[in-house]
Amino acid sequence: MLLRTLCIDIGGTNIKAEVLDDEGRSFGEPLRIATPRPAEPVPVLAAIEEVARGRVFERVSVGFPGVVRQGVTLTAPNLDAGWSGFELARTLEARLGKPARVCNDADLAGLALIEGRDVEMVLTLGTGMGAGLYVDGRLVPNLELGHHPFGDGRCYEDRVSDRELARIGVDEWKRRVHETIAQIRPIWNFRTLYLGGGNARHFTQRELPEDVVLADNRAGVMGGVRLWSAS
Ligand code: BGC
Repeated sequence: MLLRTLCIDIGGTNIKAEVLDDEGRSFGEPLRIATPRPAEPVPVLAAIEEVARGRVFERVSVGFPGVVRQGVTLTAPNLDAGWSGFELARTLEARLGKPARVCNDADLAGLALIEGRDVEMVLTLGTGMGAGLYVDGRLVPNLELGHHPFGDGRCYEDRVSDRELARIGVDEWKRRVHETIAQIRPIWNFRTLYLGGGNARHFTQRELPEDVVLADNRAGVMGGVRLWSAS
């Protein structure tokens, strides 16, 4: 029997949820609700319970916008400091009564995109900038490239965030994304870089270099199914 996974993508702006089976078939409508503010654990867990209500699934996957180690969230720059040291996987198992896995959101999206050969990377452009790194299909977790400081002390995320896009306009923002990719390429020497997250929609494939592939924005939830076969 194919298992159904409740795949949840916790974003700084929205929480998305969809039930998918092992072959990626969707059950019921995909849901999107605004991330509660302040985005502390209690209201976010209540929102997850709301999206789970009335749905049939055997397991839960969560893409979380921060560092996650063994189901425990360590950082959440675009949510709330209250996530530091929070046992998210264990709490979800208790609240939803199903096995749960939690992974960094960009890491999880990449699981739905990679081919599994050589060095592959993913950059997600949304509220923040997420990054994933894979070597022959194996995830190197929690890269956190978005917070790498350079130049005037700002980091990549400060330059290409959602907020900056609104402030500087799409043309300058796209120039910055190109610049970011050009800086990353000679350091990480990826074979392919997948560009995902909600704001990747501002690009067409033709505007991107050959080794950069525009990703399906559904990867943010689709990776949740792969999370159960990835390790
Ligand atoms: C976080 C990353 C996350 C990214 C996208 C960043 O601020 O540090 O862990 O992947 O936002 O949500």
